Amino acid sequence: MSGTTRIVLSSDHTAIPMRRAIAAHIAAQGFEVTDIGPTAPESTPYPQHGEAAARHVADGCSDMGIVICGTGQGIMMAANKVRGIRCGVCSDTFSARMIRQHNDANMMALGVRVVAEGLALDIVDAFLQARFDGGRHTARVDMIKALEA
Ligand code: RB5
Repeated sequence: MSGTTRIVLSSDHTAIPMRRAIAAHIAAQGFEVTDIGPTAPESTPYPQHGEAAARHVADGCSDMGIVICGTGQGIMMAANKVRGIRCGVCSDTFSARMIRQHNDANMMALGVRVVAEGLALDIVDAFLQARFDGGRHTARVDMIKALEA
């Protein structure tokens, strides 16, 4: 992705500081960041924030999305219910690269209770720097897309 790639960020209440750290980190690299919150520390359900970020991507308002909750799992499940979204939870840089290279993921989820901030930033970098390999992977991603038909 180029430096003008548009990235939407969201989280639940557990991950507001990590989300802000990621926003600053990728904005400093030139990405165009849209942080759709939340900003208040009160408990707020992860499905609505996963859905909101996913719709931002699916509607073309952002190119890619990064969402965070306690484990990353719940917000990933919600995001993947939105048509056109392919979101994977990553706790390591290898998976973050591979969900781009092989799965053409357009969103990634992180667990703030799983990975510390330094690793999370490396995972984000791996995800955003990787490209879809195409080739034999295209037909497989098309099979995923066909499941939505
Ligand atoms: C909130 O306590 C927690 O359930 C949520 O952040 C997430 O881990 C759900 O998958």
